[in-house]
Amino acid sequence: MRRPAIGFAMTLPAFETRRLVLRPIEESDAQGLHGAYGDTEAMRFWDAPPSVDVAETASRIRQTLAIERRWHGMWAIVARSGGFVGMINYHNVDPRNRRMALGWITAPAFWHQGLMTEAAAAVLAHCFSAMEMHRIEALIEPGNTASRGLAVKLGFKQESDLLRDRLYVGGQYRHILMYGLLQADWASYRPNA
Ligand SMILES: CC(C)(COP(=O)(O)OP(=O)(O)OC[C@H]1O[C@@H](n2cnc3c(N)ncnc32)[C@H](O)[C@@H]1OP(=O)(O)O)[C@@H](O)C(=O)NCCC(=O)NCCS
Repeated sequence: MRRPAIGFAMTLPAFETRRLVLRPIEESDAQGLHGAYGDTEAMRFWDAPPSVDVAETASRIRQTLAIERRWHGMWAIVARSGGFVGMINYHNVDPRNRRMALGWITAPAFWHQGLMTEAAAAVLAHCFSAMEMHRIEALIEPGNTASRGLAVKLGFKQESDLLRDRLYVGGQYRHILMYGLLQADWASYRPNA
């Protein structure tokens, strides 16, 4: 059966959760995002080296904003109580197969407080409903315990053994694990932040 075209909104909506506001990222968020992109530990498992300065983080935001929302979208995550928490994005959108991948990062000061669980729950709901995705992926390095735990908490299943040398970052190849979450999994599962 031929499915109708995906009705992508070309702008990102904002979301409010219990402790957070998620809104489309802007170049003026560079200083805040640099708390994550400029931090060596936060970027240890990222697919690019840390930004050397706020200007490089601003440049990365500009590159993001230059891509159509159909293919890539990034939300700034801000604490209602104040403070720039991090960002969450979708990328690798494959409309034919109704598939995309998520990326997530928080600044170390906000780690392990349930904040990305809360942010990702809002984004997953949007991607599965408004964006009509069937499958959402997360590509995670085996040593990234926090990201693997987050994915499992959100209902993702680990679906692969090591995908060897899948990434080349900072002069080194890196192995990856594939995690996947289906719309049907999500419909029957709600993580507690
Ligand atoms: C991965 C990351 C976004 C998680 O964000 P977070 O806001 O700390 O996540 P949460 O507090 O919502 O935690 C969700 C689950 O992740 C796991 N987790 C988070 N921090 C952890 C830590 N320090 N150690 C072990 N597990 C951790 C746990 O399973 C946790 O569930 P629990 O609270 O029931 O134990 C954050 O650690 C980060 O920014 N890491 C660096 C960037 C990165 O590697 N991004 C992913 C690239 S694939």
